[in-house]
Order: sequence, then structure tokens, then C-alpha cells
Amino acid sequence: MTKEYKRTLITTALPYTNGPVHIGHLAGVYVPADIYARYLRLAGRPVTMIGGSDEHGVPITLKARKEGVTPQDIVDRYHALIKESFEGLGISFDIYSRTTSKTHHETASEFFRHLYDKGEFIEKTSEQLYDPEAGQFLADRYVTGECPHCHNQGAYGDQCEACGTSLNATDLINPKSTITGATPVLKETKHWYLPLDKWEPTLREWILEGHKEWKTNVYGQCKSWLDMGLQPRAVSRDLSWGVPVPVEGADGKVLYVWFDAPIGYISNTKELLPESWETWWKDPETRVINFIGKDNIVFHCIVFPAMLMAYGDGFQLPDNVPANEFLNLEGDKISTSRNWAVWLHEYLADFPGKQDVLRYVLTANAPETKDNDFTWRDFQARNNNELVAILGNFVNRVIVLTHKYYEGKVPAPGAFEEIDNAAFAEMEDLKKSLTENLETFHFREALKDAMGFARLGNKYLQECEPWKTIKTDPERVHTILYTCAQICASIAVAMEPFMPFMSERLVKMLGLEKISWDMLAGKDLVPAGTTLGQAELLFEKIDDAAIEAQINRLETIKKENAIAAFKPEDTLPEIKLDEFAKVDLRVGTVVSCEAVPKAKKLLKFEINDGTPKLRTIVSGIAQHYNPEDLVGKQVIFIANLAPAKIRGVESQGMILSALNADGSLTVAGPTAKATPGAKVC
Ligand code: MF3
Ligand code: ZN
Repeated sequence: MTKEYKRTLITTALPYTNGPVHIGHLAGVYVPADIYARYLRLAGRPVTMIGGSDEHGVPITLKARKEGVTPQDIVDRYHALIKESFEGLGISFDIYSRTTSKTHHETASEFFRHLYDKGEFIEKTSEQLYDPEAGQFLADRYVTGECPHCHNQGAYGDQCEACGTSLNATDLINPKSTITGATPVLKETKHWYLPLDKWEPTLREWILEGHKEWKTNVYGQCKSWLDMGLQPRAVSRDLSWGVPVPVEGADGKVLYVWFDAPIGYISNTKELLPESWETWWKDPETRVINFIGKDNIVFHCIVFPAMLMAYGDGFQLPDNVPANEFLNLEGDKISTSRNWAVWLHEYLADFPGKQDVLRYVLTANAPETKDNDFTWRDFQARNNNELVAILGNFVNRVIVLTHKYYEGKVPAPGAFEEIDNAAFAEMEDLKKSLTENLETFHFREALKDAMGFARLGNKYLQECEPWKTIKTDPERVHTILYTCAQICASIAVAMEPFMPFMSERLVKMLGLEKISWDMLAGKDLVPAGTTLGQAELLFEKIDDAAIEAQINRLETIKKENAIAAFKPEDTLPEIKLDEFAKVDLRVGTVVSCEAVPKAKKLLKFEINDGTPKLRTIVSGIAQHYNPEDLVGKQVIFIANLAPAKIRGVESQGMILSALNADGSLTVAGPTAKATPGAKVC
């Protein structure tokens, strides 16, 4: 940071209220923003952290329509759920409001009106898609069709999710209304456009020259947008849900959701600080930081800044926009509509008291420079091998030993030896690196530094071995455990931004009054004579059963999704009856069934086919059945298939199975008892 600012305004992308919040949102936006806000507060620097729900936009109205409720019902439901779950995770917003608030409607309306009066908009009448059956214009997600770029069939009127291109509804090939399925017609309508081209030179200069320090993904996206050339962008829509366009002759029109939502940052600041909000937005001594996910970059770096510049009046542009990439879940893209997510409110219910574990894992794996993957096995390993084994273990040993030797009273140190001084010096280094990483939004690295205090503590304890020294040189142990108490205190400070719940408990255990960033690496944070609290475990192991329950839940969802998305294969070319008659299908009863050694997929069947001799058939269904469960069942098999040697076993036919949508196999058999050997015809 080159300039010293007086205050920092942190904004966090306002989540859409058409569903709950998931780990992708958390890792991308809210956990990093919260770490940064908590760090600044600990460092005694003035900060305000703004959050809120984005309650307009087409996905909300579509969801309402699908459920037969009003959009207000939808946003009320999810706003409450989201707000409560953020609180549960300790996200320390100074305000979490909503874009349906009165303050927001007034602020957004005034903002539009001000630009309108200044002549900052272009008014344009054009032909837009209109659904004649629904009697309504179709914008954004109200229309789907073929993407003109990649020819994906399911592109939306605002964006193709397959190739990422942002679209106008009229660009779509073969558009269809998502309300009625009707083919839309073109109808004239008037809208207001913000001429982004007018601001292009200023934006170029501001970003490309002035903010070379932005993350490469952010800078790169801005550069490619600017290099493509900016176009005027419509800021109104023909819809009924939203902030009404505040000018004459705009009945049935509302502000485009991406026009009103970022103004929500301002409205929410106003609601929180009615007297002083302007200082937080217009004083050049304020540093504005926007935490967002990568899909929001253009709106925060190009569109909203252009709106603020058009408004004028001293509104500050963001000094940084540390956008993250995406988090995947068990190898697949997180998706609200496919229910492929770990939902925050469900996590909080399934893992009570383990908020910090999630915060820790999401930060350790944060998608800062590339997309990253969350897996439940990694979650378990990080908890058990890092939080329990390193951090929790160190603190616990220190407290237990202090109680054992000194009735819980921190001893007065004697002379510090080299190893003690080295430990304090290493803490100074960690503090420097940690602070630097936090200042530059490298939270993964910062967390490693913070963990460094616990690693250091373990190493120190291991080398000093107070449990041995107590017998040979009891005086020396005073200094060792004194030093350990100071390391524990530094852990409490260093970890507060990342794991505030743990930090609070540790602070209490150590009898600290108030913590601050200055204290970090200090030599006398816990004065000699302080009585430590009883040792309680800061972290507990997470067992396999808890993890398997989560993995099973996801597997079930994966199957449900595959079934929902299933399209039967096209049928093969027609055949004549005599061709079919060449295939000799029979019923058989399974007499025995067992796994084929060293072959994961194969089962070996002995089948009663009505002849005195049993027939051997090898079938690749081992991953779908327990062999015992098939004994006694009847199957249908091909009796005249040329025999084949499979893993040394001669297979005399083939058992028929259905290949299901989720990739599982179901053995085909008669619906009621049939005679072994009977022909299937
Ligand atoms: N609701 C948007 C999303 O979830 C983010 C809006 S950010 C704001 O992608 F700036 F517009 F508020
Ligand atoms: Zn496309």
C-alpha cells in the first residue's frame, strides 16, 4: 500500500436471494472479506464492512412463479436464512441489509434520477423480445435459446453459461420464453443506456495505468473488456419486480438489477451511518475495497465505476477488487440449481461449534489464483492433522503442564536462553510475513504464517522437553512454560481474523483482557502470575462416520441429478423379426454367484438353465450387487452367444442388465417365477 488512508470501506458482493449461501460464496467473498475486516479492526484501523441481499433480478421472479408465491415471499425467506447463517459463521458485517429496503429504493432512484438530469443516459427505442402469450417483454433469464458463439442450446438472454459470453436477449438463435415456452415476437420499447464508451478512456487510465497492482485475473479481465471496446449498456428493463424507473413515461419499467445492486453498497452504508456515510464514500482518505467472485469483475471494475464517475460529487472508486476464482465441490462445479453445494445453514446444523474448521479449510484452499476443489476428505484431514494435532495439541500441552507444575499460574521467567530468544525472533518474522500477506490479500499464505506460531510452539516444546527438565533443572522450566504461554497468546491474536471462535476461547483460557495486532510476538502478553483457565480442547477429531454421511449425501444428489437429466439413447436402426429371432434369450435361475478374484467388476454365475448341467456366465456387475443377494434370483441371458474366456473363466452367455441414468446396472429378470430354460420371446 503506497498511500496511508484514514479508513477502509469493505464491500462484499450482495448475494442473490433465490437460494441459500454455499461454500463457494464463502470461499470467494465472505471469508476473505471477514479476515481482512477483522485484521484491520485488530490493528486499530477504522473499517466498515458492508453486506446485504441482492433481492431484485429475474431468477427471483422465476423462482416465485415456479412455487406460486410472490417474489417478496422468496426474498423474505432467503434473506432471513442467509443473514442468520452468516451470523452463525461469524462474518462480522457492520450491516447486513437488503435491496428491497426503503433506503435502497430511495437511494437507487435518486442515483438514476441524478444521472438522468445530468444527461448521462442515452434514451433509445428498439425492438425487444416479447412473449405474446404472457403479454410481457422477455429480458435476461426470461428467455433461452442457442448461443450465437458456441451454439450451446441452453443460453440465457443475458449470458451463455457454457462459453461465458454476455449476451443480449435478441442475440439468441431460436429464442423461447421461459414463462410459456412461446416463440417471442419483436416489439418496440424504450430504454435508458449508460454510454460506457464515453468513460472508456478514463477507465483505461484508471485501471490499466493506475492499478497494475490488482490481481492478474482481475486486471486481465478488465484489459480484455477495454480492448474489445465498450458499448452503451441498458440500465432499465420491462419488468415489474425492481426499483421503478423514476421518470415520466416509464410505467412497467424498473432499473436493471446490475444497476441497482451495487448502489446497495451505498444505501446500506447510509442506513448504518445516516450522519457520516458520505465521509465513507466521498472522502479521498477513504479506501474502498470490493470483495467479489470472478463472475462479478466487469460490473465492479467497469460498470459501477462508470456509474460513480457519471454521478461525480466525489464518489470514490475502489482501490482494489480482490476477486477470487471459483471453488468446486468434489471435482464438480458448484450449482444452486443442481443442489451441488455444501449449504452454509446445513453445515452449521451438521457441525455445531465447528465454524472455525470450515473457515480454516476454505482459507487454506481458497481459490485465490485458480479454481480450487473442496473435498470432505481434505476437510477431515485438515481438521485432524492440522487443527487438532498441531494447534490444539500445543495449547493443550501448555495449559496442562502449567496446571500440573504450577497450579495453573504462569511462572516468572528466569534468564532467556538462546532457544527462547530464537523463538521470539521467529515470531517477529512470522508477524512481519503475516501482516504483509494480509495487507496484500494473500490470505492462504497469511493463514500458513498464522499456523506457523503453533508449529513453532510445538517445535519449541519438543526441543525443550520440560517434562524431562523438571527433574534436572526445575528453575529452567519456569522460563520454558512462560515462553509457551506467550506463544499461545500470539496464536490467539494471529488466528483471530481466521478463527474468531477459537481465538475467543483461547483468550479467555489465557486470561487476556483485550487483544490487538500490536501484541503479536510480544514477550509479556500473559504476565507471570496469571492463572490460566482449565484446559479445554480447542478442536476435536472428526470421525469417518461424519464425513461419510456428507459424501453419501452428495452421491445421492449426483444420482438424482443424473436421473433428472437423463435422456434415453436414440434407438438403433430398425431390424426385422427374423433378425431378432436369431438371439436366443432364456430365463435362468442363479444357483451360485461369486466374485472373480482380482477383477473388481466381475461376478461369476452358475445358472440353472433347465439342463442337467449348470451354465457358467461371467458378468461385469460386481460394483452394483453383492453376489449373495443374487442367489436364487432369476435372470435373462443370451444362450447362443459364442463362449469367451474372461479372466481364465469360460463364459457361456451373457446376462442382460439395464444401464441406468446414474451409471448403475439393474439385472433384467422375469417379473414372476418362470421356468428355468424357458425361451424369452
Ligand atoms: N447478486 C450478485 C451475484 O450474486 C452480486 C451483486 S454484487 C452488487 O452474483 F454489487 F451488485 F451488489
Ligand atoms: Zn456460448
